[in-house]
Amino acid sequence: MNPTYLHAMGHFHPENVLPNSFFDSLEIESEGAWIEDRTGIRSRRSVLTADDIRDMRFGRKTLQQLREEGRVMSIADLSVEAWKVLISRYPELDPKTIDTLICGTSIPDFDIPANACTIAAKLGWGCLSFDANSACSSFVLDLHVARQMISTGVQKTMAIFNPERYSLRMDFTDRNSCILFGDGCSAAILSSEARPGSLRVVDTLLYSDPAGYDLVKVPEGQCFSQNGKAVQKFAITRTIEVTEQILARNNLGPKDITYFTGHQANLRMITSAADRLGISTDHHLHNVAELGNQGSAGAPSVLSMNWDLFKKGDLIALAVVGSGLTWGATLLEKT
Ligand SMILES: CC(C)(COP(=O)(O)OP(=O)(O)OC[C@H]1O[C@@H](n2cnc3c(N)ncnc32)[C@H](O)[C@@H]1OP(=O)(O)O)[C@@H](O)C(=O)NCCC(=O)NCCS
Repeated sequence: MNPTYLHAMGHFHPENVLPNSFFDSLEIESEGAWIEDRTGIRSRRSVLTADDIRDMRFGRKTLQQLREEGRVMSIADLSVEAWKVLISRYPELDPKTIDTLICGTSIPDFDIPANACTIAAKLGWGCLSFDANSACSSFVLDLHVARQMISTGVQKTMAIFNPERYSLRMDFTDRNSCILFGDGCSAAILSSEARPGSLRVVDTLLYSDPAGYDLVKVPEGQCFSQNGKAVQKFAITRTIEVTEQILARNNLGPKDITYFTGHQANLRMITSAADRLGISTDHHLHNVAELGNQGSAGAPSVLSMNWDLFKKGDLIALAVVGSGLTWGATLLEKT
């Protein structure tokens, strides 16, 4: 079985910053203090401007009109921006050597084709391209799929993109949900070739509980909704459990890891999980306070934003949870 190395990552967050005070202008009785107290979120980014969101909220424009006016960044647009960061860290990579592109997204542009094809076309790549989606846990799913494909030697060099635009499927009259999310994208490049400075993918682990499929959902033609209380309990419990499992099966415990990052849904939630795992503040990496819940792009963009922090021998545990219900983890080692 060939090993898998994660050679470089990139991230992108749109320039439109929405602080908690922005929601006052939507007249939905949102309180900035409530948001910060319950979620730890202070701001988030959106592919839409504050004016665009207000126009949708007050019925002056539809999302379709904004799309037609060219005001919505596509899956491919976000991915190209994340790719620019990745390639600046790995300039010697020849994109022609990339044989596979996987896209994992919760809010696609197309039912068909695979959104991965739109990314590859925009980048000018001719490689095998397909989607593998599992809501907020897509990054670990995609890493797991890539690792299995690379391990056989059939696939040599693979790219993963996790572009997310929850802004497009929010009900901006629902103060419970619209304050939680931010848009963003992460990108990763993997192969079996060892390269100094890469992260070795030591392990990946995935689970589903399909009986909970309707606890967090975006039905066709509708907006996001969730049972926040039920999901919070699930998110904390599964984050702790899957982190302990992936460490135990590699003969490690929480004290052995250098850094931990979790699904960026809610700072209070991931801090509670990190505390119960015994991981101190210095070892807990997150970006949810400034960027909100970025779906599947959250945890990998934390890795990308901290790429230069990691030192040889560092062990990084990343745990994710998502709609489905789904959850999983990966263990990475800096080489
Ligand atoms: C969504 C979440 C932040 C809600 O926090 P909570 O502490 O459970 O809040 P509650 O549901 O008890 O809501 C308390 C009240 O605050 C209100 N509230 C919600 N948003 C508000 C806002 N922006 N401003 C002011 N009040 C708000 C609610 O309407 C509710 O009022 P009510 O009792 O009059 O109905 C929290 O449950 C959460 O983060 N869950 C996990 C989500 C997750 O991990 N999702 C991804 C996994 S796939």
